[in-house]
Amino acid sequence: MQFLENFTPQYTIKSPGRINFIGEHTDYNMGYVLPTAIENSITFKVAKNQSDTICNVYSVGYEGFSLNLNELAISDVEWQNYVLGTLNELSKLTDKLRGFDCTIESNLPLGSGLSSSAAMECGLAFALNTLFDLGLERKEMVTLSQRAEHSFVGTQCGIMDQFASVMSKEGHVILLDCQSLAYEHIPIAISPYKLVMLNTKVSHNLASSEYNTRKKECEEGVAILQKVNPTIGSLRDVTMPMLEAAKTAMTATVYNRCAFIVAENERVLAMVKALKENKLDAVGRILYEAHEGISKLYEVSCPESDFLVAFSKKYDTVLGARQTGGGFGGCTLNIVHENDVDRFIKEATEAYKSAFNIALEAFEVQPSGGTSVVTV
Ligand code: GLA
Repeated sequence: MQFLENFTPQYTIKSPGRINFIGEHTDYNMGYVLPTAIENSITFKVAKNQSDTICNVYSVGYEGFSLNLNELAISDVEWQNYVLGTLNELSKLTDKLRGFDCTIESNLPLGSGLSSSAAMECGLAFALNTLFDLGLERKEMVTLSQRAEHSFVGTQCGIMDQFASVMSKEGHVILLDCQSLAYEHIPIAISPYKLVMLNTKVSHNLASSEYNTRKKECEEGVAILQKVNPTIGSLRDVTMPMLEAAKTAMTATVYNRCAFIVAENERVLAMVKALKENKLDAVGRILYEAHEGISKLYEVSCPESDFLVAFSKKYDTVLGARQTGGGFGGCTLNIVHENDVDRFIKEATEAYKSAFNIALEAFEVQPSGGTSVVTV
């Protein structure tokens, strides 16, 4: 693109991906989650241009495109919708947006359940907030980015990914109450263990449609529970005994979905307790329990993720593991003793290759800070 020839960025913004320690699919059920940003991120370089409405966006590895702020519409090119959707939401909140040039460069593997989409939306919102001095609070950038995902990308996602990308703190996970948006940064001190991600390299394209189906199934469960108890607003308000009492009124599928969410909320709180008390065995056990629910009750796992989680159980140096993120592939999160990380990765890579003929990608992550301006 032409602007690249003389591009002098005014600001550089780093927008991180995230892992979710525990609390999967609980966010859109108004429950608890425990995510954190990681070091892998998307970098935005931005500068104002001379135009009132024309913006040029170039993403390394993709084609660039130009857009008019007065003609924002959903594109056929998927990644452009992260940009267009964010601009659309920003322009509802401010009349200060003008033409800008922007380059985007990512070292976040796409489709790996590390939330590159939230990093895109939040990073652009943060960059333009800085460039045009829009005066938006961090939480406003979180919620507008979520709306962008709903309206332009089409996934009816919860708030977790955007919240983690913007609000995280180094060395901590965030206990977020998705109902009130109250949050607490919890120190994550798991030494001598490391957080090791194994990227299955599969991202089954069911993910988006099945995601919206899971959301509907949970809503169906809530509607049945409300007939008995009208004060129930979401699965957040439901306990196991309440669910058991309504079991016969539900299909087995709806019951299983609800049972997973109710238990997963409890697991998030149990995990926070285990982390605070430094009970690392409990940390690992809860992760394995969560994966069991992800796979058998919520049915958002896949053979590749199940294989890696089962494989990890052969090691007494691995405390626990589970698939992280929306599901149907992406990464598994493993808590591995620092002395055995190399052997575990080597053997998992070999086993995965012979089972699926796919080259596993493994990397360690560190709980990191949220979106920020990079100072040079
Ligand atoms: C995706 C969504 C999140 C959350 C997770 C599952 O990452 O974007 O809002 O629902 O799936 O926990």
